[in-house]
Amino acid sequence: MSSEWKQETMAVQGGYSPKATEPRIPAICQSTTFKFDSAEHVAKLFDLELADPMYTRISNPTTDAFEKKIAMMEGGVAALATSSGQAATSLAILNICRSGQHVVAASTLYGGTYSLFANTLPKMGIEISFVDPEASAEVIAAAFRPETRCLFAETIGNPGLNVLDFEKFSAIAKQQQVPLLIDNTFATPVLCRPFELGADIVIHSATKYIDGHATSVGGVIIDGGRFDWECGKFPELTEPDASYHGLQYSKTFGPAAYIVKARVQLMRDLGPTPAPQNSFLFNHGLTSLPLRIERHSENALALAKHLFLHPSVSWVNYPGLESHKSYALGQKYLPLGCSGVMTFGIEGGHEAGIKFMEACRLIALVVHVGDARSCVLHPASTTHRQLSEEQQQASGVTADLIRLSVGIEHIDDIIADVEQALEVSQN
Ligand SMILES: Cc1ncc(COP(=O)(O)O)c(C=O)c1O
Repeated sequence: MSSEWKQETMAVQGGYSPKATEPRIPAICQSTTFKFDSAEHVAKLFDLELADPMYTRISNPTTDAFEKKIAMMEGGVAALATSSGQAATSLAILNICRSGQHVVAASTLYGGTYSLFANTLPKMGIEISFVDPEASAEVIAAAFRPETRCLFAETIGNPGLNVLDFEKFSAIAKQQQVPLLIDNTFATPVLCRPFELGADIVIHSATKYIDGHATSVGGVIIDGGRFDWECGKFPELTEPDASYHGLQYSKTFGPAAYIVKARVQLMRDLGPTPAPQNSFLFNHGLTSLPLRIERHSENALALAKHLFLHPSVSWVNYPGLESHKSYALGQKYLPLGCSGVMTFGIEGGHEAGIKFMEACRLIALVVHVGDARSCVLHPASTTHRQLSEEQQQASGVTADLIRLSVGIEHIDDIIADVEQALEVSQN
C-alpha cells in the first residue's frame, strides 16, 4: 500500500491488504467482542499500549478497513468512523471544545449542522459565531475570541453551493492558532483534498457520496496530523487524562493525538459507533467513488447548462457554471468537477415547484443527496415547510427553489425527465 498511489488506486486497494487465505475484501465482522487469553493482554488494551480490537464500540476490523481507506484518500494520518454525519460533526467539535469555549463557523452550512451549532451546542455551553464566508479576512477574524477553539466550514456549502475560499480560511485559522475543520461531504476526497489546502480536520457524512447507493447512514472524522496541539490552547490533548492513568495524548500519540482521543475518550463515553455492516458498505462505496463522482459532476454540469437556457427556469445555481459567484473558486479548488448537487428556480414559484417535483418519474422525490439515483426536492413545501416565508428566505430557500442531486444515469434520460416535468409544472 502506498500513499503515493493515485486516488483511483487508493479507492480500490487502500486500507486493507489480506494475507494468504484471508478474505479478498474486508469481511463483515459482525461481532460485538473479541476473545483474549490473558489479563495482561486486555490490560495492555485498556492502557492503550496495544490497539487490537476489543469491543466494537471502540474499534472493529471492518470499520478499521473503512477508516484506513478514507484516511489514505484524504491524505490524513488516521480516521474515526461514526454512526452518522451529525455524530462526526458533534464529536469533532466536542473533542476540542468544552463549556465556556467558542467556535467560529461559516453561516452557509447544512441545516442539521446549523441547528447543532445554533441550538444544541449552546445548551452545552459552547457558543458559535456564524460568519459570512465571503466577508473579508478582517471581518471574519473579528469574530474570534480568546476562548475560540476552531474554525468550521463546508468545502461546498449545502444548499447554497458556495465554494470555500481555502486560502483565506486557512490563513485566518493559522493566524488565530486554531484548527480549521472542514465538512468535505459534497466534494469528497476525489474532488478536493482539504489537508492540502490548509485544513486540519476533515469530516464527512458518509451517508452521501461515500455510500453512494442510499443504503446506510454514517460519518467519519479524519485527522490531518499537522495541527500543533501543544500551542497552549488545548490542555485536554496535552495534560494528563485521569480516565487513562494520566495519559498525555500529544506526547504518546504525536500526530494522531486528536483522533486517538476522539476514539478512546468520546467514542468510549458517548458511543455513536457505526454498525460493521454499514462500514462494509461505506468501504464498498469508496471503491467506485472516483468513477461515480466524475459522472455526477459531468451530468450536473450538463444539466445546469441545459436549464440555464430553459424558458421555464429563472435561475440556476451550480458552481461549475461560469455565471456562478463561486466559479473562480470552483476552478481553483475543484478542478475535476463541482459534484452532483444543483438548485434552480422554477417559473411559477411554489405551486409549479410542487408540480415539478411530483411529475418527475426517473428522478425520485427523496430527502437525500449523493445517491447514484437522481433525487429531487422542493424544500419550501417539504423540509422547510414549518418555517415562515421570512425564515425560508433567510435560510436561502425561496418558494421557486428546486434541489436536484444529479445521479449517474445517462444524461439524456435525466434531461428528458426534467423536460417532461417542467412541461407539467407550467400547465
Ligand atoms: C454537508 C452535510 N454534512 C453533514 C450532514 C449530516 O449527515 P448525516 O445525515 O449522515 O447525519 C449532511 C446531511 O445531509 C450534509 O449534507
